[in-house]
Amino acid sequence: HGSAPILVASNRGPLSFTVEDDGALSLRRGGGGLVSGLSAIDDPDAVWVCAALTEGDRTAARQAPSGRLDRAGHDTGGQHIRMLEIDPGTFARAYNGIANSTLWFVHHLLYNTPVQPDFDDRFRKEWVSYEAYNTAFADALAEEAAPGAAVLVQDYHLTLVPELLRERRPDLRIGHFSHTPWAPPEYYRMLPDDVAGDVLTGILGADRAGFLTRRWAEAFADCCVSVLGAAVERPAGGDLLVTHRGRTTRLGVHGLGADADFLRERSHRADVESRLAALREAVGDRRVVVRVDRTELSKNIVRGLLAYRHLLRTRPEWHDRVVHVAFAYPSRHDLPEYREYTAAVQRVAKEINDEFGTERWQPLMLHVQDDFPRSLAAYRLADVALVNPIRDGMNLVAKEIPVVSDHGCALVLSREAGAHAELGEDAITVNPYDVIATAEALHQALTMPTADRTDRCKRLAAAATALPPQQWFLDQLHALG
Ligand code: G6P
Repeated sequence: HGSAPILVASNRGPLSFTVEDDGALSLRRGGGGLVSGLSAIDDPDAVWVCAALTEGDRTAARQAPSGRLDRAGHDTGGQHIRMLEIDPGTFARAYNGIANSTLWFVHHLLYNTPVQPDFDDRFRKEWVSYEAYNTAFADALAEEAAPGAAVLVQDYHLTLVPELLRERRPDLRIGHFSHTPWAPPEYYRMLPDDVAGDVLTGILGADRAGFLTRRWAEAFADCCVSVLGAAVERPAGGDLLVTHRGRTTRLGVHGLGADADFLRERSHRADVESRLAALREAVGDRRVVVRVDRTELSKNIVRGLLAYRHLLRTRPEWHDRVVHVAFAYPSRHDLPEYREYTAAVQRVAKEINDEFGTERWQPLMLHVQDDFPRSLAAYRLADVALVNPIRDGMNLVAKEIPVVSDHGCALVLSREAGAHAELGEDAITVNPYDVIATAEALHQALTMPTADRTDRCKRLAAAATALPPQQWFLDQLHALG
């Protein structure tokens, strides 16, 4: 065994390296709830295990003594990081094939079922790679963990790890957390029976399986009953308990919140101020509808644009009085569906500007180049935030915009986002498939009386920050005992 008392495992780690032209390695820190959550741990022996994703990562991992990046050499926020070098073919099949094309599609209900999915030879090869990739993580964790250590395994990339790790190290306390929704059993059972079962028993290898909302925990429990014949206890107001083959796993619900302190400070730095000035200049005194997403099928960007087009078609009073600022950042471009979706977003955006644009008014500003400070500037400027996913584990943008917004924004929010469980009362709720209803919701948001809007925004911000990332992380650690 090793010496780490606390371990985290995730596909994407808290930093990544790039090989510069002169051969030197440069380092970029990642963002997101997990990275800031983990900063609550200042145990010098904690270890974060992740995959080496870039050529720079692989080089850095090779140079590091025993494969571990030491925090003395790199400002990693307090943790040692062990980047696993996975054979590139194995990684691509596990990450693109199983994690992002199969499990992500299942949980976000993204299949176009007359043609997808097809669980054929290629799928079987991908599945074997997913098993190998999960095994590499389980081996590394088993090697690094001190006796009785707590291990927090993250997300759909690593569903098999809890069970594999328990086989290797029965002394450990193991948690798994799903950052995605969980599919209902009738959809989940599209997966081949053995795969459907292995994913569930993999997670059930954990002492605790965490979810972002009660709804996803319930769906997971329903799948355990339907696929495995597991027994589920549903104590009123308490955690769900799933018992299978004599072991019980507790399902915890931890609704990750926005990081208010970080956001408020970060959104007033000079790089944000300069972008805010540029955006203000571009929109003038018009109202602003903001959306910020990865260009992700589940984010429903195209229908959001169609709703905006419907608003302009049916309510000409908004012509020249509103601008839609839409940031759609590149994501998962190895998958053809994502490349096609990006093209569709750009095509519809152009159609809207062609149809309504005038010399003095550009109705839609679409940007596809990632720029975090510009996102924060748009957050501050927003009169209306549009968050309309088909399905989303949580959606942190819905939580972040009300926290940062300068003068109180209205939130149009899909009922299918996990965040809706906490924000639904003060948001304007939409069915994400209903383009006309979404257009009406935009109109309602744009015409909401100022006092109502600022009151609601305050309550949204309070609900959004109820469980900051650090506390979210500590809660899970303490719950493991
Ligand atoms: C989702 C997942 C995260 C993942 C993120 C970005 O939010 O739940 O685990 O980090 O997407 O996806 P990527 O494939 O770029 O890591």
